[in-house]
Amino acid sequence: MVTASEEYSFTTFSNLPFYTKVNARLLDLAEVGRQRRIVDLGCGTGGVTKLILERLQSAKDTVIYAVDHSTSALKAAAEDIGERKDVAIKYVHSEVQNLADAVKERVDAIVYCNSIHYVPDKPGLLAQIKEKLSPNGIFAFNTSFFDGSHPPDSHEFFRKWMMRSLRILKREHGLSANKAARVESRVQLTADQYVEFVENAGFKIEVNDLNRVEVPHEGWYHISGFSDWIEGVMPGVPLDSGREALQKGLREIWDEMNLKTIPRLWLSISASRP
Ligand SMILES: C[S@@+](CC[C@H](N)C(=O)[O-])C[C@H]1O[C@@H](n2cnc3c(N)ncnc32)[C@H](O)[C@@H]1O
Repeated sequence: MVTASEEYSFTTFSNLPFYTKVNARLLDLAEVGRQRRIVDLGCGTGGVTKLILERLQSAKDTVIYAVDHSTSALKAAAEDIGERKDVAIKYVHSEVQNLADAVKERVDAIVYCNSIHYVPDKPGLLAQIKEKLSPNGIFAFNTSFFDGSHPPDSHEFFRKWMMRSLRILKREHGLSANKAARVESRVQLTADQYVEFVENAGFKIEVNDLNRVEVPHEGWYHISGFSDWIEGVMPGVPLDSGREALQKGLREIWDEMNLKTIPRLWLSISASRP
């Protein structure tokens, strides 16, 4: 049986080739995999954990802490990844804001893919991340939720898609979005503000990379089935109605505009603890 949280999970999106490529690029830039103790923060259903596993140069005595506050995501990750003889994978059920307590030892790398925008207190979290790293340890994160992540040539598509989906929502479901119910991840920092926070926390920036990613139809289709996305663009709307309206609106606008892909900017930063 599929539970509600599994049905609206990030898994299908997370396994799309274009998205795997974005995260693989971050891990490459940050040379993640040569370390022995690695934290995958906001690991979700384990898409990035698997990429880390593929990169481990010496799996012996290696430990990966996969941290998330969603029990259903951690369960899905554990089932998908299974047991590994040579690597200890510890699934840690915790808010990332409790990192200091959730992971007891210092680690060599902390990877944080597409989740940092969820946390309101970035300086507080960055201070904990730094404390959790050994000297010369690496912190690498990416996000496509920042002020400026929508290139100008994607604006028309977004405007039309949202307008069409809201019209479908009204006409076919008798519902409207409630802007007052907007969630925190929608309050976005600029790329420069992210850099500033990381530097102010005492890290040395190693890579600061703004990459234009061409997102195919399947990317927008599957993100429309992810609870956080639905709640972000259609606040207060039941997930099933939101998903249906967004996916139907997408199909119509995609065909009308004769699109192949729509670009999105991805910010990737890797920084070391001096
Ligand atoms: C967009 S998904 C990304 C998952 C994974 N990193 C990936 O890229 O495939 C965001 C994940 O962050 C988790 N998350 C969000 N806020 C969190 C918090 N405050 N503490 C722990 N996990 C959190 C969610 O449960 C979800 O699994």
